[in-house]
Order: sequence, then structure tokens, then C-alpha cells
Amino acid sequence: MVRRALVVALLSIPCLAAAQQQVLDAFSVPNSGDEHTAAKSGGTLRRFIPGTLEGLEEVLGIAERHDLDVWQIRADRPSVDIYTPDELPDALKGFPHSLSSVSVPSLPSPLSAGNWDLSSLANTTFHDEWHPQDEVDAFILNLAVLHPERVAVLELGHTAEGREMLGLKVSSGAAAKKGVAKPKLGFVLMGPQHAREWVATSTALYFAHALLADASEPGSLAGLLDTYDFHIIPSPNPDGYVYTWETDRFWYKNRQIVGPGAQCIGIDMNRYVELGTRPSLLKPMALIIQVQGYKWKAHSDSPLLQSSKKKDKEPADPCSHWYPGHRAFEAAEVTNVANYITKINGVGKGAGKGGIVAFVDLRSYGQMLAAPYSYKCDKLPKDGEDQMEALHGAAQAGRSVHGMGFTAGRLCELLYTAPGNMIDYIYNTASIKYTYAAFLRDTGTYGFALPASWIRPVGEETSEIVSYIARFVAKQRGYEM
Ligand SMILES: *[C@@H]1O[C@H](CO)[C@@H](O)[C@H](O)[C@H]1NC(C)=O
Repeated sequence: MVRRALVVALLSIPCLAAAQQQVLDAFSVPNSGDEHTAAKSGGTLRRFIPGTLEGLEEVLGIAERHDLDVWQIRADRPSVDIYTPDELPDALKGFPHSLSSVSVPSLPSPLSAGNWDLSSLANTTFHDEWHPQDEVDAFILNLAVLHPERVAVLELGHTAEGREMLGLKVSSGAAAKKGVAKPKLGFVLMGPQHAREWVATSTALYFAHALLADASEPGSLAGLLDTYDFHIIPSPNPDGYVYTWETDRFWYKNRQIVGPGAQCIGIDMNRYVELGTRPSLLKPMALIIQVQGYKWKAHSDSPLLQSSKKKDKEPADPCSHWYPGHRAFEAAEVTNVANYITKINGVGKGAGKGGIVAFVDLRSYGQMLAAPYSYKCDKLPKDGEDQMEALHGAAQAGRSVHGMGFTAGRLCELLYTAPGNMIDYIYNTASIKYTYAAFLRDTGTYGFALPASWIRPVGEETSEIVSYIARFVAKQRGYEM
């Protein structure tokens, strides 16, 4: 094993506009009584590179026992990123790792609320800064006012805390190109289920804006609307997203009250059809197919803690970072998204008839484009070759924009084997053949705390990735694009 002692001190985030230099010291909501607030001004991100999967299992086992916040696991080049504002537990100190100090960036005061000029993609300042949930919603509503003939606001249902989940359907309304009587294809683009992955939300908003930008503008994707309707859900975990703005920047579950005595908060939404808890790297899971959901599991039989098999059979701790709920679709937000998609595309035998042919789950971080399955690696999906062909092309398309590399592969081989991921459910149950998870920038320097100046470039390169997939699928189906 190579010892790495790379120390990267992250400087504060460069500000773009003068207005943004009016930064507040910390998060704007005064929550001084909240125990979580004080500790969240920054911490250390450590990358462990154990060299082998066995070593990785060991590090993860310790992380789990100490309920540490794992930011990323890579199985293809075994490494695990662990963030903590506190000291590293003794048990981990002996493992070689690199360090970055991650500071919670100061946020611009959201004074500008509602004052953006969205008539131009290139000239608006909206994509120069991060936006809290109410501004995300305002953006969607503003686009609908500007483009009433092309934008339908989606009300997807309520969250655990009672927020209405908004999305938007962008459609040209006109018949498919060249008078061909072919129906439009459908494409679903979803933002992050994990609240802290802000760049996935900003990218979904950027993409929606690019679809609506006049075809004469640089970056406009208006041409895609000749063939596609886009269903865009920029913030599928708004309760969690609000919490990342107000209290804990790196929160990632939803905000549902859970546990036997209602003593814990939050379900890891992207294990909803899944289990949870412990990712499995070495052996296939023994799977339980639930009535709803796909490969969701309440219990873990992961080999992470191979030495304590008995513990593996215990349900996940509802207070842990990994809690998947005690049944599939316990998270209201997940049910809302699944209902929306399956209502259009159906489930079971008739699934796939609704015209939605592609689904991309935007996430961060890691610069990876991943295809199903997540829950197992020993069998390719029947559409595996087509999926990978599109994905390799998409990775190249992404790189062509700003030179950022993306690794393409199966989710199970890039991250780890874990049942119940969103993409397994969408691929299998909603029968959407071209279903992917796209992990955006970066590769672990800023992690979830990217500079705001990257919002636009990430939006641009991801738009190219999504467009490539859209064009690939349309061609496969005999559409001219
Ligand atoms: C954006 O700003 C430039 C420079 O002011 C201007 O020439 C251009 O027309 C603007 N574009 C749009 C679409 O408003």
C-alpha cells in the first residue's frame, strides 16, 4: 500500500459577482440553540486508499461502527472518502489516507430572490450562485410564466414535512419533427435524492433553462424538444435540501421522523428500493423482492462486518447515516417520484408503453456515469450492451466540453453492490431501458462543497452528456435528430 499524505488546503470559494462578495459568515438562519449548527463550519475529508477490497471493507466496517459520514466509496479503484468535523477515531488512525480540509463555504445572501432575468441563458446571473429551496421553486414558476406554452409545473406530492414537491415538464407542444406522426419520446431528469449534492440540483435547473433558451443562443438545447418531452425534478428531497441551507450543509437523508420511538430523523432515500445500510463489495446479496420496490431490504447481509455475522442480520439503526426505512417506499418523496413515473410508464408487464425512454439520476460526486445494476454485478441487464454503448459516448461528449473525464461503468462495479437503488427500480420496474446515474464533479477535492463558479461549467458539460444520451436513444428508435 502506498502511503499518501497529500494535504490540500482549500481556500475559500472565489466569488464571481460583486454582489456575491457580500457573503455572510455562515448560514443565515440563526439556530444558535441547535446542537448541530456549531460543529458544521468545516471538517476534514480523508481519502483512504487501502489497495484491496478487503482493506476497504475493513475501513468501512470501522466507519460504520462509529457512524462516520462516508462521502464516497469506489470499488473500481478501492477508496473511501470519510468526512468528519471531529477527530478521527483511533481505530482508523493507522490506515493510510490523504487529507483535505473542507470548509463550509459562506453563502451569498439570497437578497436577489426573484430578481433574475431568465430571458437569456447566457446572460442571466441565476446560474452564478447556489439557491435555497424557495428560489429553486421560484425559478421553476418563473420559467412557467415566461414560457407558458412550453412549461407545465408538476406538483408531485408532499414531503414528510409537508412541502409540495415541484418539477417541470418541458415540451414544445408541436408534433414531432418533420411532420412524422411519431409520438414524442419522454426523458426524466432527476436531481439529487441526497440533499447535500447541490450541484445536481443546479444542473437540473441549468438544463431546464437550456431547453427553453432561444435556439439562437449559445448553449440552447431547444432542438431536443422536437423529439422529446423532458420531465425534470430538480430537488426531489426538498426537506433535506432546506436543512442543508439552514442547519447542516452536509445532511443527506430526508427529514422524516423514524424509528420505534420516533427518536430519529431521516431516511436515506436512495436506498429506498434498497436496503440499506451496508454496501456489499465482495459477494452478491441474498435478495428479497418486496411487494413494491426493487430489491429493497431492511436488513443487511453485507460482508462489511464479516467477523460479526450475527450483527449483519439486525435491521439498520434508524439513527444511522444509512437508514433505509423499515419498508420499501417509506419515504414519501420517493413514493411521489416513483408514482409520477410509473403513472406514465406503467409497471410490470405493460411497463414502458408511456413513451419515457430515458432516465438520468443526477448526483455528486465522482465524475462517473453509471448503468444498472446496483444490486448485483454478476449478471448484466439484458440491455447491458446498448446501455454501455450510449454511456461511453456520453462520457466522451461530457469530456469534450471542458476536458473533465468521466468514468463509465456499472454502478455495482464503480461504487459498490447495494440493493434497491433508484436506477435498478426505474430500469426494472418502470422498464426504462436507458437508465443511468450521473455523478457530477468533482473527484474529491471539494466534494459536495463545489465553488459556485462551477455551476455553469458543470451545467454545460452535463447538458452535453444528457443530450448525447437523448440523441443516441432517438436514433435507436428511428427518430431523426
Ligand atoms: C447577452 O448580452 C450580450 C451583451 O450585452 C448581448 O449582446 C446579447 O444580445 C445578450 N443575449 C441575450 C439573448 O439577451
